[in-house]
Amino acid sequence: MRIDPGIIRDVLSRTDLAALVGSYVSLTKRGNDLVGLCPFHSEKTPSFHVHPDRGFFKCFGCGLGGDAIRFLSQMENVPFPEAVRTLAKRAGVAIEEETPAAARSRSEKELIYRANDLAANYFHRMLREPAGETARAYCERRGLTQETIEAFKLGFAPDRWDGLVGELQRDGVDLAIAAKAGLVKQGQHGYYDFYRARLMVPTLSTTGEVIAFGGRALGDEEPKYLNTATTPVYTKGRYLFALNVARREAAQKDAFIVVEGYLDCIALHQAGFHNAVASLGTAFTAEQANEIKKYCRNVFLCFDADPAGQTATLKSIDTLVAAGCSARVVRLPEGEDPDSFVRNRGSEAFAQLLDDATSWVEYKLDHEIATIRGGFRSAAEIAREAEKLVRGLPREEWDRWRVYLAARLGLNVDDLR
Ligand code: UTP
Ligand code: MN
Repeated sequence: MRIDPGIIRDVLSRTDLAALVGSYVSLTKRGNDLVGLCPFHSEKTPSFHVHPDRGFFKCFGCGLGGDAIRFLSQMENVPFPEAVRTLAKRAGVAIEEETPAAARSRSEKELIYRANDLAANYFHRMLREPAGETARAYCERRGLTQETIEAFKLGFAPDRWDGLVGELQRDGVDLAIAAKAGLVKQGQHGYYDFYRARLMVPTLSTTGEVIAFGGRALGDEEPKYLNTATTPVYTKGRYLFALNVARREAAQKDAFIVVEGYLDCIALHQAGFHNAVASLGTAFTAEQANEIKKYCRNVFLCFDADPAGQTATLKSIDTLVAAGCSARVVRLPEGEDPDSFVRNRGSEAFAQLLDDATSWVEYKLDHEIATIRGGFRSAAEIAREAEKLVRGLPREEWDRWRVYLAARLGLNVDDLR
């Protein structure tokens, strides 16, 4: 049986190699790698290396190496397709490629990747052409350098109805596929460009395909961002913008910085914070937490300092903690977002904000204290509420947070207990 390359790619991108290998081998962190005793030959000093961010393992003793599928098939002594099936099942990837309908949907995905890729190239080229002048000026106003424009392959969707349509037709793309990709729309007189007069930001998967676009209005037009809706290759809330570039540095620094917006994320990269990713306008989802977890477990949450940002922060904390990650909250001054902050105050000031970030426990307790206080309740009730909070935390931390809470609430530590 032939397994579709798209399936294999899906399986690999959704498999946490470190966790898979870690379930057989005791691994310790060494730099970017994980190292342990090779399970395939007998050794006393570890020469077995796992590179979770690049998705492969290698033993420098016996020479065996490969991806997660190879690891499992060697480890369990099963043929390649069976290893794929096992991993697919664990990762929740459906293997239905035997049915013709599934094969069609698979190849449809490949066609959408191709259409998206051609579109990204077209937008990027348009940014350099004379028609892209307004967008280039916009980039300049926002302080984006040429290097950043190249690194993120930013582009420009010209202010016309048939620009991308014409380009895709010349490349032989079926416009029905382009419509499924969300690149064009069907109107009464045929297909027309969905994105017009916008700065284009492509989102890439960790395996390198262009999966979605965000289009920023160049002025005050609404909506500010026009985004790819759900398509066969993209579901909002499942992916993180810039994860493909950020994961290496995040694994190295053992932390991600999570921001809300495209340009917040891009500005942080430009300022040297290459471990920044964007959740794209919503609170963190469990799927995004699982993506993060493949590389490291620490997250700096850096959302806007408005009520919406606070709500998103609290929700994201719960999601991250439930996924086994740890979070710290970066406190931006009122009215600033990460983009405006690094632009106005520089990288060092932002690095200081990271250093000063509040642990998620403290952030949550502060929030609860404010709620408790707002409730005009008796000291006894406050103590009971506070104690409930503390008991939700790991036991070894109880005393430390009791002291903190007591001080903040003006209570006696013993009253809390
Ligand atoms: P913000 O409104 O905070 O904008 O939206 P921003 O990131 O500061 O954008 P700039 O700096 O003005 O360009 C945060 C994120 O929410 C999503 C986008 O991902 C945006 O980056 N969003 C916002 C949308 O998808 N659509 C919108 O109309 C607005
Ligand atoms: Mn902004």
